[in-house]
Amino acid sequence: MLTFQSAVTYLLALAIPVIYLTYRHYARPQTTQIPAEDSKKPLKSIMQGPRDDLEPPKDNPYTTEALKEFDGSNTSKPIYVAIKGTIFDVTHKAEVYGRGRSYNIFAGKDGSRGLGKSSLKPEDAVADYSDLDEKDLKVLDDWYSFFQKRYNIVGKVVGDEKGDAADPPPANL
Ligand code: HEM
Repeated sequence: MLTFQSAVTYLLALAIPVIYLTYRHYARPQTTQIPAEDSKKPLKSIMQGPRDDLEPPKDNPYTTEALKEFDGSNTSKPIYVAIKGTIFDVTHKAEVYGRGRSYNIFAGKDGSRGLGKSSLKPEDAVADYSDLDEKDLKVLDDWYSFFQKRYNIVGKVVGDEKGDAADPPPANL
């Protein structure tokens, strides 16, 4: 004969594992769950977007010396940044490339090495990127495409009288 006491014990023995398993199932820590749809969302960039009003690229030759004129020190002149020998007009972003601004180090010169190495050191802001490893070369090419989509090409860097050979324009971009 089942006593009241043993019936309660029996019910509890059944109920406790059921409650525990239900808790485990529904109350797992949320931190380990990354909703699939969230991880697919593209990250919103704080950088400017690509432009669709760019002019056809120009092929004007500039020596390294001539390019220095366009480093943002003279506010009545445009600001130029060269990457792999291609010169981009970045005047409309004077707030980042102008004198005393964060990326002025790249203005009026070809600073390909620094762009590839993600370095803002003055000694890295030089045209010679021949010692970059594969990863940094990819970073440099990504910068090239970034600029190509946003800035007008006004010319290319050519060797000056001292015989400095400028880098040939990239074939794959
Ligand atoms: C703590 C480190 C850094 C932070 C927080 C940072 C932040 C930013 C921000 C907010 C922009 C967008 C600026 C704008 O469009 O107004 C930008 C653009 C840029 N950054 Fe950096 N940056 C950092 C490091 C670097 C380094 C080390 C380099 C060296 C290659 C670099 C090169 C650039 C360049 C070339 C742009 C493109 C500007 C343009 O033409 O729109 N940044 N960065």
